[in-house]
Amino acid sequence: MQALRDRAHGHEGWGRWNRRGGGVLLVLPFALVACGGGSGSSAGDTAKKGDSQAVGSANTELGGKSAAAADKNAKPLDYTPPSDSQIPGGLLGEAIRRGEALLNHTTDSLPEYATSSLQCSSCHINAGRTRDAAGLLGVYARFPKYMDRTGAVIPVEDRVNYCFTRSLAGNKIPNDSREMRDIVAYLAFISTGVPTGSHVMGEGMPQMPKLVGDSARGRQIFATTCAMCHGADGQGNPPAFPALWGPKSYSIGASMAREERAASFIRHFMPQNNRGSLTDQQAFDVSAYINSHPRPDSPEKEKDWPAEGVPYDVPYDTRGHKAYRPPAKLLPRRNPAGAIVPPPPPVKRTTRVAAASTTAEKK
Ligand code: HEC
Ligand code: HEC
Repeated sequence: MQALRDRAHGHEGWGRWNRRGGGVLLVLPFALVACGGGSGSSAGDTAKKGDSQAVGSANTELGGKSAAAADKNAKPLDYTPPSDSQIPGGLLGEAIRRGEALLNHTTDSLPEYATSSLQCSSCHINAGRTRDAAGLLGVYARFPKYMDRTGAVIPVEDRVNYCFTRSLAGNKIPNDSREMRDIVAYLAFISTGVPTGSHVMGEGMPQMPKLVGDSARGRQIFATTCAMCHGADGQGNPPAFPALWGPKSYSIGASMAREERAASFIRHFMPQNNRGSLTDQQAFDVSAYINSHPRPDSPEKEKDWPAEGVPYDVPYDTRGHKAYRPPAKLLPRRNPAGAIVPPPPPVKRTTRVAAASTTAEKK
């Protein structure tokens, strides 16, 4: 509980920075890194403790306690990712362009993997360049990172595959595929110049105030404000208009299935033709309504947050957490094996002892 409150505070802080915009660019070489996971993502808001643990040890090597103490006041960088016109020539440029196209046209390009109505850019607006819309600007500098939903340090490829399997309710793509490399080339491109380990304004989504949605009110808002694009039945009109629930929507294991996370996206970016027109409460109401409907299951979700840090609004049971407002029904996945990204193997004590001993012994 204490941990939850601490995180919430941290996030109000990030939210303020996010909105302030245009601040002085403050470069604190290693002070920025321990600020945890940006603005309250599934990765972000839960990673606070783990992140600072992981980074804390690095800080000790780099600068000791003073560096760690400066973290609290460190400011994310005011960063604008390069535009398409700045994509370099040659084969690297081609890879970046293909990666960007994969984010924008995921279902067309990868029909076997992206099986829902969603593109990456349905949530990562403008292929992740738009601030606060699950912003991916600077993302390459944030990996590898400790993600406490997984309980392990993961590479960016695994994070991409969490979105394929959970947010797109599709199948993981091979880490060594050309497509994955193209996506990563694009993610690195929109992180050009961001120092490793630093955070930028507009990454992720701003934290919302703690409200509780009323799905009856949300139903009204949906009918008058959302149905014209997403359909009265919430099934959208793909590929232009993605579904909000049902078999072609995001899975229960997606951040968007959490009431507060979806409320943040909706508050700032929906309705698409009149952004910012809903109040915080209305965003929660319609989020509660959308997320009360059936949606695809996410196999092995009960293994999430193996250690600690589970956010209050996770809609399924995990270790030490009771589902918050779970959807009416979970729809089985056609290819459950494809929907699971195995976590990196745990470190065993014996391995560490072996590593500390001489190489001769090991060999
Ligand atoms: C249903 C919405 C949705 C879709 C679709 C989606 N994502 Fe995400 N993605 C999110 C959210 C929400 C986060 C967490 C953002 C945050 O707050 O840091 C996220 C996080 C990420 C991150 C890590 C960001 C970070 O800073 O740690 C990457 C990389 C990513 N997504 C890539 C992709 C790719 C590539 C696709 C398409 C294959 C995709 N996403 C599809 C919602 C989505
Ligand atoms: C004018 C058409 C339009 C209206 C109205 C609209 N949306 Fe959207 N919505 C979109 C489009 C298009 C996207 C894909 C992202 C983008 O291009 O902005 C989207 C994406 C989304 C997403 C993330 C992707 C997904 O399918 O889960 C959510 C959630 C969402 N809208 C909820 C809402 C809610 C709630 C409302 C009503 C308050 C609403 N939208 C009104 C067009 C619309």
